[in-house]
Amino acid sequence: MTEVIDAILNRSSEPRLIAPAPDQALLEQVFECAARAPDHALLRPWRYLVIEGGGLVRLGELFASTADTEAEKDKLRRMPLRAPMLVVAITSPTEHPKVPEVEQVLSTGAGLAYMLLALQSAGFGGMWRTGALAYDERVKQGLGLQAEESIAGFLYVGSVADSKPSVPRLSVAEFVRSWPDSP
Ligand SMILES: Cc1cc2nc3c(=O)[nH]c(=O)nc-3n(C[C@H](O)[C@H](O)[C@H](O)COP(=O)(O)O)c2cc1C
Repeated sequence: MTEVIDAILNRSSEPRLIAPAPDQALLEQVFECAARAPDHALLRPWRYLVIEGGGLVRLGELFASTADTEAEKDKLRRMPLRAPMLVVAITSPTEHPKVPEVEQVLSTGAGLAYMLLALQSAGFGGMWRTGALAYDERVKQGLGLQAEESIAGFLYVGSVADSKPSVPRLSVAEFVRSWPDSP
């Protein structure tokens, strides 16, 4: 088994995250990893926002502004505070005759997956989340997205407070077949 295969097979999303978040030098490397995502026609269809400290409180207010009841607002206000750092991964698509938008979203997703691996290999944890807030126009506007842009994920980042049990794995035969079927 190679080191990379081992890292991938042992990757786990971590929902319970606390301070400290990665420092600037590591964060820079994590984003360099994101930028190694496969990218048809080299459109660089992604950009990222890093939110920490008071920014997380402001994001909570933005989330809360989408809710109708006080109870809901309270819940949404607390959401970004589940980690010391949150990275918003944004697909910023370019019109291209050979590269439909879905491919540009996929490239953003590949970057996020690389970031998760990089974080874990450096001793930190991450959790990729979306939910209705990622698709809410008020949230997108509040974060400064252009009309054509979309949120691929909120990546919660921090130190792992306690690891979650690993997710059950499928056996390869459950999701891989040869084509055409052997007679
Ligand atoms: C696009 C995308 C959005 C996701 N959104 C959420 C979410 O909002 N809430 C959540 O609990 N898990 C979400 N997940 C799943 C987790 O990030 C994680 O992959 C899942 O809990 C399985 O854990 P594992 O990554 O350790 O296998 C999302 C995953 C993807 C790819």
